Order: sequence, then C-alpha cells, then structure tokens
Amino acid sequence: MSRKLVLYIAMSLDGFIAKKDDNIDFLSMVETPNEDFGYADFMQNIDTVIWGRKTFDKVLTFGNGVPHQDKKVYVISRTKTGKVEHAEFANNVVALVQALKEQPGKDIYCDGGAEIVYELMNHQLFDRLIVSIIPHFLGDGIRLFKEDNKEQKLHFKRSISYPSGLVQLWYDVVKSEPAKS
Ligand SMILES: NC(=O)c1ccc[n+]([C@@H]2O[C@H](COP(=O)([O-])OP(=O)(O)OC[C@H]3O[C@@H](n4cnc5c(N)ncnc54)[C@H](OP(=O)(O)O)[C@@H]3O)[C@@H](O)[C@H]2O)c1
Repeated sequence: MSRKLVLYIAMSLDGFIAKKDDNIDFLSMVETPNEDFGYADFMQNIDTVIWGRKTFDKVLTFGNGVPHQDKKVYVISRTKTGKVEHAEFANNVVALVQALKEQPGKDIYCDGGAEIVYELMNHQLFDRLIVSIIPHFLGDGIRLFKEDNKEQKLHFKRSISYPSGLVQLWYDVVKSEPAKS
C-alpha cells in the first residue's frame, strides 16, 4: 500500500470548521493541559503537510512562522507561486497528491480547509479521515464537507471520546474497484 492521504481536522457538531470570518475560537473550548488528542502520535507517521492558501494565511497569523520545519509543506493556490520559508505553493492539488503517492514516504496530512478537502474528495484521493467533533453548535460558517461531492464508502476504524467532550472519529475510505470494461 502506498502512503496514505489523511484528513485530520476538527469541526463543530453541525459541521463547520470556522466561522465565515475565519474565526476558530470555538476550537479552544476543548483545550486541556497535557492533552493533544493524539496529534503528536499522528504526526510521527507524517512527512508531508498540505494546506489550502486561506488556511495557510490563518496559520501565519499565529505569529510563529511556518510550522512543521522537519516536513515537506505545500500550500495550494491558484494564484501564488514560490515559497514562504519552507512552504511551497502548488496550484494543482490533485496532480500533487497523485505524484506524492507514487513516491516512497510517510503519510500525507491534509489540514484543510474546506475548498481543498472538496477538491481531494471529488477525486477520491483521501485514504483516511480523522474528524474531531467539537461539542459546540456553531450555527453558520465554513462547512467542512460541501454539497455536490462524490458518494464514498467508509470503513469505521475507531472512535475516541475525551473528557473535554471532543469525540474523534476515524474512518478509512473504501477504494472502489475500477469499472470492468
Ligand atoms: N477546524 C479546523 O480544524 C480547521 C482546519 C483547517 C482550516 N480551518 C479554517 O478553515 C478556513 C479556511 O478554509 P477555506 O475552505 O475557506 O479555504 P482553504 O481551503 O484553506 O483555501 C482556499 C484557497 O485554496 C486555493 N484553492 C482552492 N481550491 C483550489 C483548486 N482547486 N486549485 C488550486 N487552488 C485552490 C485558493 O487559493 P488562492 O485564493 O490563493 O488562489 C483558495 O482561495 C480558515 O478559517 C481556517 O482557519 C479550520
């Protein structure tokens, strides 16, 4: 099996990853000392990170530069080229992921946002979805899974519930056999 493309992301119970103005304060309500919700373990098996350009801009507002200095980092944009620190802009996420999957390596982490998730879902490129449900009803915002996407079978792997109320769901995407001619 080639390296996996894994979505690891958090959403409100009603399916939003941020408010429409990119506010993500609701994520902090589950913050707990000495609890990373499996993130460090997950990152052990990752050597490549993919962000949409808007998510990347949000990360830069945290003021610590570009994280993941030990990893290959790609930012998907239709308009930007070149690099910011070690992060490289790429304009075709589908071609990028297909090429990465042909190369040896650890798994590939897609952190979103929703526009990039839509593109990767539409091309059935995810192998695993790890979605953390935040116990909060946001009401409105940027929906993680947009409408008008492809139906895909999932295989439930596990769920982990944390004392903060965060529930983490793991699914593997069942790859459909190519149609026989
Ligand atoms: N809750 C969480 O765990 C979580 C995780 C990630 C992100 N977020 C939040 O989600 C928000 C951002 O999500 P988003 O869906 O609005 O944006 P996004 O997916 O992060 O980025 C959208 C940008 O990606 C580029 N893009 C989109 N589709 C493309 C395609 N087919 N080909 C090439 N480039 C493409 C475009 O960049 P250009 O405009 O440069 O061309 C577009 O403006 C932020 O608020 C972020 O904080 C939350």
